[in-house]
Amino acid sequence: MKIGIIGAGNIGGTLVRRFRALGHDVSVANSRGPETLAELARETGAKAVTVEQAARGQDVVVVTIPEKHIPELPRDLFAGAPASLVVVDTGNYYPQRDGRLDEIESGMPESVWVSRTIGRSVVKAFNNIYAKHLMENGKTRGADCPAHASSEASRPVRRVRVGSPPPARAPFPVLMVESEHVPRYPSSC
Ligand SMILES: NC(=O)c1ccc[n+]([C@@H]2O[C@H](COP(=O)([O-])OP(=O)(O)OC[C@H]3O[C@@H](n4cnc5c(N)ncnc54)[C@H](OP(=O)(O)O)[C@@H]3O)[C@@H](O)[C@H]2O)c1
Repeated sequence: MKIGIIGAGNIGGTLVRRFRALGHDVSVANSRGPETLAELARETGAKAVTVEQAARGQDVVVVTIPEKHIPELPRDLFAGAPASLVVVDTGNYYPQRDGRLDEIESGMPESVWVSRTIGRSVVKAFNNIYAKHLMENGKTRGADCPAHASSEASRPVRRVRVGSPPPARAPFPVLMVESEHVPRYPSSC
């Protein structure tokens, strides 16, 4: 699969390593430019690219930057992207880090805020696991992982099965809503 990753920190860097180990074609970007990612590229075989390149021509794009930086992403980042593109958001809102975001404080789900800010529906995933656990504690093929699709437009996704493509329609009962797998809830580990 072609996977673009925007953000190369704790979670972004971990996902680069894990996706590359599975043989995916990974492009990774940060805010400072591809030259600052040369070492990660050398280590993993991922391509170090610009944010725009990480968002174009991919099957999946993972946005993994702190919420306060989401509004800095180019407004047209996903303009013209095909409907089949899946955008994953790993973010969690921490007011002490991100500053106060009034819409979220007023009850808007975080992923809806991200989705509206970047102009693209997102699936929220990898947000409820520490980077170290994501790196070291793999799940076996067939295991369930919690996920949440914010989208007003896309199909509902509550869980994805490791190693399987997402189902066209969730064949299982609704298991989670976003508020159950953001920090402070037991499913966040
Ligand atoms: N750390 C965890 O264990 C964990 C677990 C679950 C969820 N999360 C959530 O996942 C998100 C990322 O967390 P993290 O810990 O990986 O963050 P981090 O280590 O601070 O890394 C942030 C990354 O985002 C990049 N970035 C910032 N602004 C950018 C922009 N405008 N354009 C492109 N790249 C930009 C940074 O690039 P530069 O260095 O070049 O600025 C850096 O590579 C956060 O919302 C966090 O709450 C984290």
